[in-house]
Amino acid sequence: MALVLPASVTVLTPATSANLGPGFDSLGLALQLYNRFEVVEHGDDPLHPLITIKGALGDGLSTGPDNLFFRSFALLFERLEIPLPSVRIFMTINVPPGCGLGSSATAVVGGLVAANELIRPQNLSLPTEDLLELAVEAEAGNHPDNVAPALLGGLVATTNLDGKIHAIKTPFPDALKAVVFTPSFPMDTVAGRKLLPASYLKADVTFNTGRVALLLTALQMGRYEVIGEAMQDRLHQPYRQVLFPAMPEIIQAAIAAGAYGASLSGGGSSLIALADSHLNEVLQAMQETARAANIEGTGRILRADQNGARVLKTSRGRVRKEVSARYGDQYYWSPARQGGGRGK
Ligand code: HSE
Repeated sequence: MALVLPASVTVLTPATSANLGPGFDSLGLALQLYNRFEVVEHGDDPLHPLITIKGALGDGLSTGPDNLFFRSFALLFERLEIPLPSVRIFMTINVPPGCGLGSSATAVVGGLVAANELIRPQNLSLPTEDLLELAVEAEAGNHPDNVAPALLGGLVATTNLDGKIHAIKTPFPDALKAVVFTPSFPMDTVAGRKLLPASYLKADVTFNTGRVALLLTALQMGRYEVIGEAMQDRLHQPYRQVLFPAMPEIIQAAIAAGAYGASLSGGGSSLIALADSHLNEVLQAMQETARAANIEGTGRILRADQNGARVLKTSRGRVRKEVSARYGDQYYWSPARQGGGRGK
């Protein structure tokens, strides 16, 4: 079936950092680092999209029908029992895959949002809550803490209540930046989850529940001095540390250099530190400590994304200016650009 216009759509989806230490499977923060997806109706074979990937970070991603963006795009048509259009897809990948920054969530959410926009003229689009349900279903491991902030933006508290995903977004303080160090090795989230125990001691559970409460309240009230304590975790990081033994030292180095707190980002391998000053120093300390442990990596200093996935344009016309989507707002620090960046 040929689509009624628009027959093309461009979507921008933010990277995310899940868990933030104690909020295992329940907290996630959207970041101003984006993957961009463009879908154009093209050809006559709906099951074999033509996929072009731009950006060296996307080298390992599939360009076949098993591509996660395409599978998520197709999922919406399948659930609504609408014929899948034949498409060409252009993906610009800025979020490193497999490194705890929600790369797969960008694909899942991007595919669903793009499909949802293409069917809008037929009044078939789903509300955001329904997209979230589908996104959690499509995300490997079925955890909501990457897809929810990728869809909604900001800091999101999310959980599964009696089979329904609930997610509440709160703005993340502008003053705080995410200093992110991404080692050159990925960490497989699903494999990492297999390292976690089937049950926990009450003392470990209350260690985390108290810290989630403290972290959310501290962010809301501007009590940043408690973030260091509040970002500690006993439910997943200690178990994942076997895959990344230098993790505690790098976290400590970030705090010693001026970050309020730091943790593993999602299931790793990235580490995220929250700071409002000494940003370059924090990043440099993380990088140097990692290097001393023979770990190379890339540093990024990122603001929170407060908007979530967004449609930039359709064949009906531009929906948002790229600049208003702050696509260029991210910046990088890397050994090749020593002294670069805008950190205080
Ligand atoms: N909450 C998930 C986990 C996030 O820790 O496995 C994965 O990015």
